[in-house]
Amino acid sequence: MIETIQQLKTVIEQDLATIHDPASLETFRLKHLVKKGTLQELVEQMRSVPKEEKPMIGKVLNELRNFVELHFSEAKERVEQKDTGIETLDVTLPGNIPMIGHVHPIRQTLDRIIDIFAGMGFSVAEGIDIEDDYHNYEALNFPADHPARDMQDTFFIKDQKRNDVMLRSHTSPVQIRMMKNHQPPIRSIMPGRVYRNEAVTARSLAEFHQVEGLYIDKGVTFADLKGTVTSFAKQMYGEDSKFTFRPSYFPFTEPSAEVDINCYLCKGNGCRVCKHSGWLEICGCGMVHPNVLRNCGIDPDIYSGFAFGFGIERVTMLATGIDDIRHLYENDMRILSQF
Ligand code: DAH
Repeated sequence: MIETIQQLKTVIEQDLATIHDPASLETFRLKHLVKKGTLQELVEQMRSVPKEEKPMIGKVLNELRNFVELHFSEAKERVEQKDTGIETLDVTLPGNIPMIGHVHPIRQTLDRIIDIFAGMGFSVAEGIDIEDDYHNYEALNFPADHPARDMQDTFFIKDQKRNDVMLRSHTSPVQIRMMKNHQPPIRSIMPGRVYRNEAVTARSLAEFHQVEGLYIDKGVTFADLKGTVTSFAKQMYGEDSKFTFRPSYFPFTEPSAEVDINCYLCKGNGCRVCKHSGWLEICGCGMVHPNVLRNCGIDPDIYSGFAFGFGIERVTMLATGIDDIRHLYENDMRILSQF
């Protein structure tokens, strides 16, 4: 009998070690502590123990019972505390660092652009996304049926009363609104969202951002334009970047130019990104066309000025090395959190 009690104690000790949650606690109780459990079974076997041995065996059995009850209640307490989390709260552990949002790379670029131009005395103005033909094209010296309108594939808005409403295809209409509402000198940049009916590819989106620049005063020359754009571009892309002004055409400027920067990837030697030319286009610009000044009530014999426009996504891509414009809109934290 003593031996049976010893064996049970060993089993109980092993079973105690397996208690770590409410389920294993219950399994233990059902096996050992209920009426049909192992302990009770031994109590029943006491009946067949010879009388003279009863006190001694009864004592050993009682010790086992006390042992089990003590350890069971300890285990129970442990499991219950674990359940409420009291025991497991370790205040010395480092906390969970919450994900904190940050400024999107496009907005970061725009903030930097605004900062640089503010340093050169430019204010910031905004226009409207839904424009009419007059501001988006006509006042900018795109006559009706002018082939240059095809340079920008426009989203028109269906309206029963008007057929000249569209999503602006560039930020240049804000120039018109600026000049119509302000007397020179005018020195502003005009950032905003623009829309074009274009296929979405690694290089183009149907919805993107531009910054327009406008400086109108007496005696403004192409040299001022070159100085301003070059100064901006050096601050944006680095002091040792190189630029060229390549003759180009825009209806609203004369003369017009496009500015190229030496390719950041091949440093001008020619590669896939710059299509082996060594240069990447960054900006359109020119001297504001006299017709545009006249359309806005500014006398081109007294005033002159320059304008420029460029895409913000493109600046972001050049400055960060992101090589697919779509990455900027997919909100993939693996990409966004790098900036
Ligand atoms: N609006 C032109 C475009 O979207 C960019 C541009 C070129 C703006 C020359 C200008 C400029 O102000 O002078 O392609």
